[in-house]
Amino acid sequence: MITLTVNGTEHSFDGDPEMPLLWYLRDELGLTGTKFGCGIAQCGACTIHLDGYPTFACITPISIAEGSDVRTIEGLAENGDHPVQVAWRDLNVSQCGYCQAGQIMQAAALVDTTPDLTDEDIDVVMSANLCRCGTYPRIRAAIKQAAQARTE
Ligand code: FES
Ligand code: FES
Repeated sequence: MITLTVNGTEHSFDGDPEMPLLWYLRDELGLTGTKFGCGIAQCGACTIHLDGYPTFACITPISIAEGSDVRTIEGLAENGDHPVQVAWRDLNVSQCGYCQAGQIMQAAALVDTTPDLTDEDIDVVMSANLCRCGTYPRIRAAIKQAAQARTE
């Protein structure tokens, strides 16, 4: 039996411990905000937080999450008002939107853990998340706005 906390609620899972965490979140819990893109750790669409660290759910067996705190886009902020989400809306970052939950989760971990962000910090970390629509300039601007909001 695997027990884990997802967005503040404890769950147990009695199935295949090798099943990707992404399948569990989407298919068992119905948390479809986290997307399946490549399935091989190349695109970042499936980024969630595992004990606060951005993690690709597509290549993470559910057994790794035993006893851990998992957070998905649905649980990032109670009212959708994490500074990254606010900045995303202010700057109309999303285009098709498919990559954006993963982008936001990656960006939120960065903003939450690094007080003074340089352009290089942003580019290095966010290079893990691909956007086929090319929203990168707005993503970078929104992260800067969110980082600024964190220091105010
Ligand atoms: S779906 Fe997980 S990195 Fe692409
Ligand atoms: S907004 Fe379309 S893939 Fe990023």
